[in-house]
Amino acid sequence: MESIRELLLILLAVILLVQNLSNVEARYHHHKKQKNKGSTVPPPASPENPVSSSPSYSPSVPSDPYPNDPVNSTDCIFDVRDYGAVGDGSADDTAAFRAAWKAACAVEAGVVLAPSDYVFKITSTIFSGPCKPRLVFQLDGVLMPPDGPDTWPKADSRKQWLVFYKLDDMTFTGKGTIEGNGQPWWDLPCKPHRGPNGSTSSGPCDSPALIRFFMSSNLVVSGLTIQNSPQFHMKFDGCEGVMIDKLSISSPKLSPNTDGIHIENTKSVGIYNSMISNGDDCISIGTGCSDVDIADVTCGPSHGISIGSLGAHYSQACVSNITVRNAIIRESDNGLRIKTWQGGTGCVSDLSFENIQMENVRNCINIDQYYCLSKECLNQTSAVFVTGITYRNIKGTYDVRTPPIHFACSDTVPCTKITMAEVELLPYEGQLLDDPFCWNAYGTQETLTIPPIDCLQEGEPQSEQEVSAYGC
Ligand SMILES: *[C@@H]1O[C@H](CO)[C@@H](O)[C@H](O)[C@H]1NC(C)=O
Ligand SMILES: *[C@@H]1O[C@H](CO)[C@@H](O)[C@H](O)[C@H]1NC(C)=O
Ligand SMILES: *[C@@H]1O[C@H](CO)[C@@H](O)[C@H](O)[C@H]1NC(C)=O
Ligand SMILES: *[C@@H]1O[C@H](CO)[C@@H](O)[C@H](O)[C@H]1NC(C)=O
Repeated sequence: MESIRELLLILLAVILLVQNLSNVEARYHHHKKQKNKGSTVPPPASPENPVSSSPSYSPSVPSDPYPNDPVNSTDCIFDVRDYGAVGDGSADDTAAFRAAWKAACAVEAGVVLAPSDYVFKITSTIFSGPCKPRLVFQLDGVLMPPDGPDTWPKADSRKQWLVFYKLDDMTFTGKGTIEGNGQPWWDLPCKPHRGPNGSTSSGPCDSPALIRFFMSSNLVVSGLTIQNSPQFHMKFDGCEGVMIDKLSISSPKLSPNTDGIHIENTKSVGIYNSMISNGDDCISIGTGCSDVDIADVTCGPSHGISIGSLGAHYSQACVSNITVRNAIIRESDNGLRIKTWQGGTGCVSDLSFENIQMENVRNCINIDQYYCLSKECLNQTSAVFVTGITYRNIKGTYDVRTPPIHFACSDTVPCTKITMAEVELLPYEGQLLDDPFCWNAYGTQETLTIPPIDCLQEGEPQSEQEVSAYGC
């Protein structure tokens, strides 16, 4: 016994010693790397060069265990003020942001810093890569676009404002706010019912999406407050590997087309710990998305979490493996919705909605394969196949203006493998238990659903469909 203890103690001492030695070595090594980098990166034109102003670091002082650790030095921080940003809320800081981006992009783990207590204004900008790995855009202050369509530069796209393009391994974070100044865009007479006497004027009506990630991979977006977007708050297209955490997204309930987070043609996405309130879909998932995990998200007021619309203009759409867990949806026009156009092809499969709390929501659970924005959609024989949809532990209250459960599946391509377990929805006001609606919907109820859903057909349809037959 005694000897084993001694042996262990000796072993521990050796381990500690070795660790200490390797720590020191790692620091020397790191310092050398920093120094090399400093000499190869051309210093920016700014007089307040952040590279040269960093404190000098002496590695040979053993008494101080953490002498200006190079990991935490200012070497890699590119403060937009050092590139001429004013941050008074009215000056145009675009050039400064572009220059800081360019400098940070060129070094590993570069940080573009927009510090707190400043309000930066920039025009539509494409922050493009490729950049060195681990680039960080750190927004601690306020960042905003020009104030509405009248001051939007004529040469700039009206479809997007901040664009991140061709990046890999990049983080957009900070405790700051992106203020979209959306009101003048929402008030354009071409927006629904904003024209004279509540009409809707015709004509082009482009309004910029606030933040767009395009053709990029391994992205982290966290901590930010994003508000009052002219149109979509955040959009991911053609991306792979997206981690969204602790975002606060908000726009008024009646702001048109202000989707919270929209993803399309994007794979491997996590959306966690976020609050979204807006005037359109809270989270919308378009074609070409798979392996999406959404958890601990609160939506509302909003239009809920939406898959689609899919299959417009006879297109093929594929969406698979989407999980939504531990979400709250309140004061929303829709809860969990899948919408497809008639005439499309493809498949929506393996969706799971679990532990969702509804508060005064219209159309809590909804599959609509007759989605149509005009009155003239003809019935078609082809449709996007919907299969393998699980609703588990969905509880709360619904707005009695619409039935809480609505499965309107295609005439020719039934929805299959719908699983309902512990779904209990009660009217928010009044006693009316509105009857669920189903058309051509097949599946199983593991427990008794409230309100009772007799219209869901048990089992499988006669002619069983194969996912593979739909080209996904
Ligand atoms: C740098 O050090 C400061 C003070 O020790 C700390 O508060 C901050 O979080 C560190 N930053 C990074 C990026 O590690
Ligand atoms: C709006 O409605 C008022 C009252 O009905 C009418 O006098 C006015 O001409 C209408 N304006 C337009 C632009 O249609
Ligand atoms: C489904 O997506 C999750 C990520 O959300 C992933 O971990 C898992 O492997 C995927 N499942 C399949 C069968 O691809
Ligand atoms: C299309 O089919 C649906 C379901 O069978 C039916 O309710 C609807 O009336 C049809 N619409 C047209 C335009 O034929």
